[in-house]
Amino acid sequence: MAIKFFKIYDFEEHGEAPQEINSLRTVEVEGKRVCLVRLAEGYFAIDDKCPHAGARLGLGKCTPEGMVICPIHRYQYNVKTGRGLPQQGDYVNSYPVETRNDGVYIGFEKKWWQF
Ligand code: FES
Repeated sequence: MAIKFFKIYDFEEHGEAPQEINSLRTVEVEGKRVCLVRLAEGYFAIDDKCPHAGARLGLGKCTPEGMVICPIHRYQYNVKTGRGLPQQGDYVNSYPVETRNDGVYIGFEKKWWQF
């Protein structure tokens, strides 16, 4: 399966730093909500919906190490891998994010007929 990238931030429109380091927010791309995190090392994206009880992870907090903390029951997910803490035994999907010269892009797997 191939990956198709969609622009989230346009540096001309949103500026060179559209999101602060160690911040997170929900963005909607192609009708899908994702939790977008900016760490010192770059941008990362995971599902916005918490698998525990459906809270929006984009309304939670993020540690400098890249653990997203759910705003409701404080489950934690690694923004790089999507894995929850070992005692949780769950995960969220993670998505590739690329910072290019003109902006920030997120990639979704697409089947050939969706291109
Ligand atoms: S809804 Fe996220 S931890 Fe419960």
